[in-house]
Amino acid sequence: MLLLSSQEIARGVQRLAQAIRQDYAGCNPLLVGVLKGAFIFLADLVRALGMPVEIDFVRVATYGSATLPSRPARILSGVRISPKGRDVLVVEDIVDTGYTTHAVLTYLQRLSPRSLRTCVLLDKPSRRRIPVPIDYRGFTLPDRFAVGYGLDKGEAYRWLPAIYALEEGEHGPAPSHRRGEG
Ligand code: PRP
Repeated sequence: MLLLSSQEIARGVQRLAQAIRQDYAGCNPLLVGVLKGAFIFLADLVRALGMPVEIDFVRVATYGSATLPSRPARILSGVRISPKGRDVLVVEDIVDTGYTTHAVLTYLQRLSPRSLRTCVLLDKPSRRRIPVPIDYRGFTLPDRFAVGYGLDKGEAYRWLPAIYALEEGEHGPAPSHRRGEG
């Protein structure tokens, strides 16, 4: 089932970019994307921003948070550009339980940025297990398994240009996706 068409996503990205551009005018912020899910969103966001930014990435190991609710996510690979004294903006595709974003913020805060904010395309507040600040939010989603636009299920579906709710029992290529749709 289609949740967000590519046009809706593009409008959301433009809206976020406009807010970020205003707040960070003249700042040369360091954007930190959370791999892998944020790679498409980050690529579209920086092009929509149209202002000088620097870009780095972190990778986070997530644990089955349903079975290990109190175990924090762990930083697998950190930034190469020092966040010290920088205006850092974390770019996430989705905040679900919040464990990933919490781990990224804790890690970056220790590296003494001048400011630290979050830009999240999709927020699923009903799933939250740990509170995390969201400074720029694209869309709020219901508690459905979302795929596409960078989000995967078992590494499938990241390539889809729109965002879909995976139906119960769907495992093959998303049958609801048709070329040109979304
Ligand atoms: C997904 C997504 C977020 C995280 C959000 O990443 O990209 O980073 O989960 O979930 P949380 O709020 O419950 O921590 P995933 O672990 O699936 O890795 P991926 O980005 O490489 O797909």
